[in-house]
Order: sequence, then structure tokens, then C-alpha cells
Amino acid sequence: MKKNILEFLQNKQDGYISGSYISRELGISRAAVWKQIRELRRKGYQISARSNCGYRLEEEPDKLDSDLLEKHGIKYLPSVDSTNLVARHLAEEGHPSYTTIIAEEQLRGRGRRGRDWYSPSYSGLWFSVILRPEMINPAAAAPVTLVTAASLASSLNKNQDLPVKIKWPNDLLIKSKKFGGILSEIKGEPDRIEYLVLGIGLNINQQEENFPADIKTRATSLLLESGKVFDRTSLFLTLWKDLCRAYEVFLEEGFAPFRDQLLTYNSFLGQEVKVTWAGGSLEGVACDLDRDGSLLIMDNKGELQKIYYGEIS
Ligand code: BTN
Repeated sequence: MKKNILEFLQNKQDGYISGSYISRELGISRAAVWKQIRELRRKGYQISARSNCGYRLEEEPDKLDSDLLEKHGIKYLPSVDSTNLVARHLAEEGHPSYTTIIAEEQLRGRGRRGRDWYSPSYSGLWFSVILRPEMINPAAAAPVTLVTAASLASSLNKNQDLPVKIKWPNDLLIKSKKFGGILSEIKGEPDRIEYLVLGIGLNINQQEENFPADIKTRATSLLLESGKVFDRTSLFLTLWKDLCRAYEVFLEEGFAPFRDQLLTYNSFLGQEVKVTWAGGSLEGVACDLDRDGSLLIMDNKGELQKIYYGEIS
């Protein structure tokens, strides 16, 4: 049904097509036509309506280029619950390191600490990468999130000229507003990682009205900060290639090169912060990043504390 209405609109791009004509041709009510139009708009089709004239298709949604992605070996899915869940299933089936899943939309995108991650179609990049870092144990895997944040921030600063900052350990900000986050999930034993799934969510072409009210004041997109509409497929391919290279460097040289990038792009050092983790919290001044990527906080008693995981506010 939806397809038919879309075909009517696509075939009549130079002019308006009336709702009553569509309803007659398809044998459905005007209300049903309106409902389908609303659904198409929700999916990113820009359709204008004019009284006494009908509907006109102004713009098709900016879809990810699935053919190009697949040529690069990326698994493209139009709609998923969560790319992290898909990646975990594929990892369980034995898919190798660098297997990457990208979705046009996530119906249940997940953030850290059980939060939802709003992931509508045609505006962001929602993807997950499987890694199998055989030589490191789960305790030594925390820097992989930091390597990812450093690689994304560095690529966006250098290639897109965007003033991206990192909020330790996994938030990407522009002017103190969050546009990206990383959710890493590990399966392993105390001495061995079976696989790690790196889930990355980036708000790219959202306008302000595209954000739900509860995140509007804190969230932003690259479009909102730069005034530029991005070609999401080519932006993804650049970020993804840089990320795969960064991971190779991490395996060969360790965390040191990324510590420098985190220091360059950090948004937190020298600030009064509160770090919260599953079992507690700590307030103090964020002083430095240790060699392993952990955060050094000078607490209110003047003692230096080393924090491995947590969330800064
Ligand atoms: C956070 O900042 O809380 C992390 C957000 C991570 C979101 C990404 S989108 C792709 C991948 N799939 C998910 O369900 N979550 C991650």
C-alpha cells in the first residue's frame, strides 16, 4: 500500500496529486491516504500538502548507499533492534575481527548504563564492529573504547574540520553538547577475550526538531554545529577506515599514541568533575590520564585517585 502511494507521488514529481484521486485509484479512504502520507513523512520523505491541490513529493530521504557499503564488506541492514545485538550474534557464529554492521535505523538502540539510544532513519550513523583482540585480557581491553573515541575525534577534527572533543571515556562532544557515544561489550574469560563489540552512534544530519524533547537540550548533530549536510556513507567509510587503522596501531604500539590524542581533544582535564560508576562515585579535579587510559582525579582530600571505568559529569 505505502509503495503504491509513493509511486503515485514519485510519478508526479512536477506537480501535486490530489488525495481523493489516490484514494479512488487505490480504493481506500482519504483518512487512510493521510495515514500513509504521515508514515512516509516519518520515514524521511518530505511531502508538502496544499489545500485543493493535494500532495507533492519534495525530497526523498537520504538513504545510506547499501551497494557501496557492501562493496567494502560492511553488512547493511535497513532496520534492527540494535546493531550491537546483531554483532554479538554474528560474533557467536564465529565472524572475524572487523566484521561491521550498520543499520539505517535502530528500534532499540542502546546506550551505556541501560539507557536508550535514539536512532532514527536517514540522519545518523549507527554501527557496530566485532574485534577479537587475542593478545589482551578483558582487564586490558578498556583502552579500546578510548582508542575508538580518539580515532573518531581525530578524524573529525582533521578531515572535517570539526571542533570535536572527548568526554572520557566514550562521549563525543561539540561545544559541550553530545553528538556521539560508544558502547563496548566484551565476552571473555578472566585471561582471554573471546570478542569485543564496539557500538558507535553518531548524530549527523538531525535538525533540532528531530530530537525528542528529553534530549534536545543536551544533544546535537554535526549538521547543527557546522551548518553542513553530510554524505553519511562517505563520512562513515572515512571514519571506519581510520578506526580500523587505529586499532591496528593499538595492537602494534599500545595505547601511548592514543593517550596523546585524548590529551589533545579532551574536554575534561582541569575541570571539577563527578565520576559515577556502578558501585559509587567520586568528586574532584580531573588531573591527568594515566598511561593505561585511566583517569586521575585529585579528590577533595587532596589524594590522587585512579579511575578505570565511569561516567563524568
Ligand atoms: C552512549 O553514549 O551511551 C553509547 C551509545 C552507543 C550507541 C550505539 S548506536 C550503534 C550501537 N548499537 C546500539 O544499540 N548502541 C550502539
